[in-house]
Amino acid sequence: MPTTAAPSPDVKAYKSLSNDELRDRIQAVRDSLGERLLILGHHYQQDEVIELADLTGDSYKLSQLAAGSDDCRVIAFCGVHFMAETADILANRPEKLAERGGERVRVILPDMAAGCSMADMAAIDQIEDAWDQLSEVIDTERLIPVTYINSAASLKAFVGRHGGIVCTSSNARAAMEWAYERGDRVMFFPDQHLGRNTALGMDISDEQMPVWDPYAPDLGGSTEEQLQSSKVILWKGHCSVHQMFKAEHVAMFRKQHPGIKILVHPECPREVFELADESGSTGAIIQAVESAPAGTKWAIGTELHLVNRLKQDHPEQEIHFLSPVVCMCATMYRIDLAHLCWTLENYAAGNPLNVIAVDEETAKWSLVALERMLEVR
Ligand code: 13P
Ligand code: SF4
Repeated sequence: MPTTAAPSPDVKAYKSLSNDELRDRIQAVRDSLGERLLILGHHYQQDEVIELADLTGDSYKLSQLAAGSDDCRVIAFCGVHFMAETADILANRPEKLAERGGERVRVILPDMAAGCSMADMAAIDQIEDAWDQLSEVIDTERLIPVTYINSAASLKAFVGRHGGIVCTSSNARAAMEWAYERGDRVMFFPDQHLGRNTALGMDISDEQMPVWDPYAPDLGGSTEEQLQSSKVILWKGHCSVHQMFKAEHVAMFRKQHPGIKILVHPECPREVFELADESGSTGAIIQAVESAPAGTKWAIGTELHLVNRLKQDHPEQEIHFLSPVVCMCATMYRIDLAHLCWTLENYAAGNPLNVIAVDEETAKWSLVALERMLEVR
């Protein structure tokens, strides 16, 4: 069995190593742990991380992979915090734990500072406060909470407890339809854009979608009448990366490149989403490019690393980034080979670092909402 390098407890010791050296050392840990180790990578990760991932995907697929992981005992999650929490909940759900005789799959987030600024825009006490205020003016028994997977486990647990569902960018419409089969209106958090873009496609009008501002003094900034006539109550949250794409960028590309197709992630603001030719999750964006004929021209509105990789992988097509400014996810970018090597070597040496473990009660209720998500497509 290959031996792994003696680990340092300090990530700084890894920062001075070259990528080649880090790659070799990570490979040595992979060889020694074999199928016990699963490295998952979100599509926004840097190329050198993606190259080392066993499996890659969008949020939905990564959740499925974590839920289905049978042989592994440790998942190194190259993504952001909410994704690692989700993997911990799904990989350690009661039936999986029973199959493994109680042994937990450890989920490691190589850098604990890899969060999601959108997820941070909705805190559980703000959601609970909003729900309490809403119960004064509408029947919350008929209000179904839908949380985007980009949210803390505590919010997913809230949703599970209140008869709601988690959605991803690839099943938001199906999740919303699921909700309307069970209630009269939806509370959608934290991404107002995904919520609005999805609802507009279901013939829900702007007037039926008040935005709840958690910092407004009363009723999230809406009137009682607005809330009572609503179909969706949107949370005032957004992705700082996707909000950088503007309608004028679409106009510029259409003018300069006749015939170009605009392909965007549904976290983009409404005006960009509506101007686009196609939209979808990161997985759907990749699929759209992979299935297009040579010569197709694209301007793509999603995170820079993914667009650059598509450009490299598809020289037979003309691929542009749909913004003149750099829109990259700074927190996804925190995961690098140095952090991956540091956490893997320490794990292999019996010193697990950066383990994401959701508490039992939160995991139990989050699982209710996540299982609904996995059933709805
Ligand atoms: P996907 O589920 O489409 O991969 O999106 C995750 C994300 O964070 C997009 O910003
Ligand atoms: Fe969060 Fe936006 Fe980064 Fe996705 S791109 S992880 S929504 S900050």
